[in-house]
Amino acid sequence: MVKSLLYLPWWFFKAKFLGIKRPLQSVLFISDKCNLACKHCTVYQLTNPNIKSYEQIKKELNYSYRLGSRFVDFEGGEPTLWQDGSKDLNSLIRLAKQIGFYSTTITTNAQKPFTGSEADSIWVSLDGLGEYHDAIRGKGAFDRLVKNIASAGHPRLSVNMVVNKLNYPSVAETIEFAQNNPHIRSISLNFHTPYAGTEDLFLDWDKRSEVIDLIIRKKEAGYPIMNSVSGLKLMKHNRFKKHCWVADFILSDGTYLTECAGKTAGVCEQCGFSMAGEMYSVFNLKPDTVLAGLRLRM
Ligand SMILES: C[S@@+](CC[C@H](N)C(=O)[O-])C[C@H]1O[C@@H](n2cnc3c(N)ncnc32)[C@H](O)[C@@H]1O
Ligand code: SF4
Repeated sequence: MVKSLLYLPWWFFKAKFLGIKRPLQSVLFISDKCNLACKHCTVYQLTNPNIKSYEQIKKELNYSYRLGSRFVDFEGGEPTLWQDGSKDLNSLIRLAKQIGFYSTTITTNAQKPFTGSEADSIWVSLDGLGEYHDAIRGKGAFDRLVKNIASAGHPRLSVNMVVNKLNYPSVAETIEFAQNNPHIRSISLNFHTPYAGTEDLFLDWDKRSEVIDLIIRKKEAGYPIMNSVSGLKLMKHNRFKKHCWVADFILSDGTYLTECAGKTAGVCEQCGFSMAGEMYSVFNLKPDTVLAGLRLRM
């Protein structure tokens, strides 16, 4: 904790004033195997998935750490499915901590129980309530999620909603659900990014703006929304300088990217990842975003 409190301002000073652009967070795709086939997703492989070995992940973690990264998010595919012999996802979390990462996160669809997860924090993907979630993720997915987050009993579990053309009417009730469910700490809201083949789910800019106004009203009313107001306002038009190099990405096939895959895919203009706006606001020292970022990291 103390170490990271010192490292963060040092990293920020180097980036902002000396122009040294090094990743702070690594998004490590450990496999692209999945137990769902969500309508908005383009990363999963149903046949012949890439599954990294423990040794490969160890090399990738060491590499990112040497570059300066101190936070790691294990992603997939579905990371809770990952295994290599006797090693499981908790083995990777321990390994990352041993290497020196300050904090580990997993992002999961919560279709499999994850009781006993040693991750510092857990992001569960929740794309609306009941039928809204199931319309994107498949029948029964919502009920399994609710059951598994209850049995997980993890003290730092938040939900992440990706708003699209199908589920935007469910945004208000999902925020209320996050507040009322004792197993959820907070909610982060993102918008659909139209990777090839999923363009029809993109929410038009006017609707996006209305949804953002609704989220801001909910945040001001005290709901546990992780996004900052400054970051949300930027997402209304997306015309701001992106600082996506703050995270590096190592894909399931081992490809190393110094920035999010959205850049290569040419979708930055329509990007819906809240982190883009949040990072711009941090770099411009917007107090609400700096506070939100610190809360997330600590
Ligand atoms: C690719 S999934 C991997 C982790 C896990 N399987 C899950 O669903 O949480 C990571 C996150 O990316 C989000 N996602 C997938 N496709 C997206 C898209 N086109 N635009 C924005 N977010 C997307 C998912 O909703 C999920 O929250
Ligand atoms: S569960 Fe995650 S990785 Fe699997 S298809 Fe859905 S969004 Fe993609």
